[in-house]
Amino acid sequence: MKELIFNYENSLKDEDIKNSKNIFNDILKKLNETAKKNNYEDKFAFTNLPFNDTKEIIKLAKRYKNITSLVIIGIGGSNLGTLAIQQAVQGKFNQKNIKVHYADTLDPDTLKELLKTIESELKNNKKVLINCISKSGKTLETIANLEIFVNLLKKYQKNYNEYVVLTTERYNELWNFGLKNKFNLLGIPKNIGGRYSVFSNVGLFPLAVLGINIEELLKGARLIRNRCLNNLINNPIALSALSIYLSKKPIHNLYLLGNDLEGFGKWNNQLIAESLGKENNLEGTKINNGITPIITTISMDLHSLAQLYIAGPDDKISTFISYNFNNKIKIPELKYNLIEDIEGKEIGNIMDIILESVKNVYKSIKLKYTSIILNDKSEYSIGQLMQFKMMEMIFLGYLMNVNIFDQPNVEEYKNEIRKILKNERKN
Ligand code: PA5
Repeated sequence: MKELIFNYENSLKDEDIKNSKNIFNDILKKLNETAKKNNYEDKFAFTNLPFNDTKEIIKLAKRYKNITSLVIIGIGGSNLGTLAIQQAVQGKFNQKNIKVHYADTLDPDTLKELLKTIESELKNNKKVLINCISKSGKTLETIANLEIFVNLLKKYQKNYNEYVVLTTERYNELWNFGLKNKFNLLGIPKNIGGRYSVFSNVGLFPLAVLGINIEELLKGARLIRNRCLNNLINNPIALSALSIYLSKKPIHNLYLLGNDLEGFGKWNNQLIAESLGKENNLEGTKINNGITPIITTISMDLHSLAQLYIAGPDDKISTFISYNFNNKIKIPELKYNLIEDIEGKEIGNIMDIILESVKNVYKSIKLKYTSIILNDKSEYSIGQLMQFKMMEMIFLGYLMNVNIFDQPNVEEYKNEIRKILKNERKN
């Protein structure tokens, strides 16, 4: 059971740390107060989620041991955290006994395939569980998919309502709809926003159904939450935020080793983009500021993007995330000698060498970067990583003087959709 290691590498100097020694004092005081209260009453409520009691969630999840598929209906903050953890722990291409499907699109071509798969399971008397997750209960894509999938379930399963779980804020329209239809209901606390909700019922229930050890996940998250209460020198999360802030770069590039953290990359994109991309600062002054998140997988994306990173504008700070692979595969000793020095080598080691080489180039041309080294992709390690990134937003938001919990401008395009749909109904 190892704790992750954060290195600020070439992104902070001793003098930066000395000068910023007290920079987070106010926010640390607030975080310590929230920790002491251990409830969901203030804006930092999500930091207490890892101290959640999981008994009820595990009990409900056990009821669905007999299913063959779990359809998760939700989008953005309502499904990306689950996707991130499930892919990291179970593998991006690995389907376990219970298959998981993410209905987070209204792309009819994708949905047609998924509906075909689910229908054929239902026809064969297999059990399918639908977990629809929406904090507002009003998201267009989510509600449309709920209607489509419940309709299908109804056609084949007599007690279909037992196989629908709605996760939403208590007493909103979706909750009341669930009550009326005798669906199972799970609440989301008022002060927990979508992108910070993975350790609530939003992520914990579907993950428990899929056989992920949610206790270990929360144990990892708790460890990092407690690190966040420390002063700067003993607080890797605050140091990471400081490195990103002081770099003054408009782009954050997340280097991910291998494929299984791609879902985590998507989740992290939302976290950075929605938390920091703001029109106004906390005083209401127009700033139009933010950090643009990008993801680079090692080694695929190096073959398309590295040229730009190395030779192009110095407008990014990067974070390399690495871990020990689960499996070992050796290149056979065929003595073809097509590429010197790889025969008989373990390919995970080659991946580590590729990562080290990129870091060496960054060092030599002074491109800024930091590193997070995980022990593995277990629940305990991924729990730490996700809590690290969520809490890093608190420190970054404080430095950038923005509200990390709202996303007021997303409403602009959502209002447009409503307007167009309303007009179509009239015609
Ligand atoms: O971070 C957010 O708040 C958003 O990305 C939401 O998670 C997303 O729009 C889905 O919203 P809801 O959970 O209300 O369906």
